[in-house]
Amino acid sequence: MNIKGKVHYVGVNDRVKHRFEGLWFLPMGVSYNSYLIDDEKVALVDTVDVAFFAEYLEKIREVIGDRPIDYLVINHMEPDHSGSISLIRKYYPGVRLVGNRKTFEMVQGFYGEPTGDDIMVAEGDELPLGHHRLRFHLAPMLHWPETMVSYDQTDKILFSGDAFGCFGALNGAVLDTQMNTEPYWPEMERYFASILGKFCAPVRTALQKLGGLDIAMICSTHGPVWTEQTPRAIETYRRLSHGENRPGVVVCYGSMYGNTQRAAEAVAEGAARAGVNDIIVHNLSVSQPSFVLADIFRYNGLAIGGPTYNGGLFPVVEDLLKRLAGREVCHHHLACFGGFTWSGQAVKTITAYNEKMKMTPVGCPVEWKQGTGAGTLAQARKLGEALGRAVLDGTAC
Ligand code: FEO
Repeated sequence: MNIKGKVHYVGVNDRVKHRFEGLWFLPMGVSYNSYLIDDEKVALVDTVDVAFFAEYLEKIREVIGDRPIDYLVINHMEPDHSGSISLIRKYYPGVRLVGNRKTFEMVQGFYGEPTGDDIMVAEGDELPLGHHRLRFHLAPMLHWPETMVSYDQTDKILFSGDAFGCFGALNGAVLDTQMNTEPYWPEMERYFASILGKFCAPVRTALQKLGGLDIAMICSTHGPVWTEQTPRAIETYRRLSHGENRPGVVVCYGSMYGNTQRAAEAVAEGAARAGVNDIIVHNLSVSQPSFVLADIFRYNGLAIGGPTYNGGLFPVVEDLLKRLAGREVCHHHLACFGGFTWSGQAVKTITAYNEKMKMTPVGCPVEWKQGTGAGTLAQARKLGEALGRAVLDGTAC
C-alpha cells in the first residue's frame, strides 16, 4: 500500500491476540506497522510479529518483486517489531541491519544473530537511499533503552517507533485522511497509559529533541499514519507526558460482599453533589486495568477503596496501586476508603503507596469495621464532596 511516493506500508493487523504484552486488552486489535522505501537502495523500516511473517513477505514482494532489501532499519527491538529480523535475513541474505549500539546487543541477545556487515549509527548519523535520506535520532527509554527514530529529510516523514502509536487494527485504510480516526484517539490514550506511562520524562525529552524537525507525516509502529492530524498526535503525547488532565473523578474499588461497593457509590454521589460531571466508577474485579489507567491519566481526581484481605489490601486494588506507583500520575487529588473485619490494613496500605504516587491527599480517609452503616456512608459522601471540590478548584495539583 503506497503512502507517499516511494514509501509503502507493509504492516499487518493482529485481530487474534487478546492481550498486548500478555497484559493489555485489545478489543479493537492492534497493527504492527512496517514501511518499505523503494528507492535506489531499498530500506525496510522495522518488521512485524513473526507470527505474521508469511503475509508480511507477500506484502514486501508486492512492492519490490525480486529486488533485494539493502537495509533493515531497526527503531525498536520489542519482538512485536523485531520478531521477523531473522527471517528477513534468511530471505534477504544481503540485508544490512541499521541500529545503534544497544540495538545490536539486543539483536544478538534475542535472536543470536551475529553482527555482520551491519551499520551502527549514533545520534545525527545519516543514510542516503537515493532520493530519500534518513537521519537517526536516539530516543532512549521510549520505552526501551535502544529506541530511536528515523527522519526522512526528503519527504519530512518521521518513522517514530512506538511513539505516537495507538492500539487498534487498521480497517482498510492506513492514512488518517482516508478514515474516521475518532476511535483511535481514546486508544492512543490507553496505549500511552499502559505502555509509556512510566516513561513520561523520556517522552518529554524526545518531544523536545524532535521539536525542531519539520514533520509532515508520522509513521509509527502502531495505528494510523498521521498526516493532517500530526499536530493532534504530537499534542496528545505532549499532554499525557506532562500529566495534563481535566476535572473529573475516577472511583476505583474492589469489594467482596458489597460493603466497599456501597462506600464507592457514596463517594461518587458526593462528587456529583459537588458538581463534578465526569465521574467514572470502576469495579477493579471487572474493569480491565488499561481502561482504568487511561481514565486515571484523563482525570485529576482519584478515589481508591478496598477491603482488608489476608492481613493486607484486597489484591485487585493493590494491583492497581502497584501499576500507579510505577507510572507518572502525580498530578492528582486522592481520596481513600476501606474496611476490615478485625484488623484494618486497607487504608494504611493505600496511604503507604501514595508515598510513591505522590498524589495530593483529600479529606479524611473513611474506614469502617465490618458493615458500612449509615454513618460510614455519610462520611463517604463527604469524602466524595471534598474530592469533587478539589478537582473543580484546578486541573493541576
Ligand atoms: Fe510496539 Fe514497544 O513495541
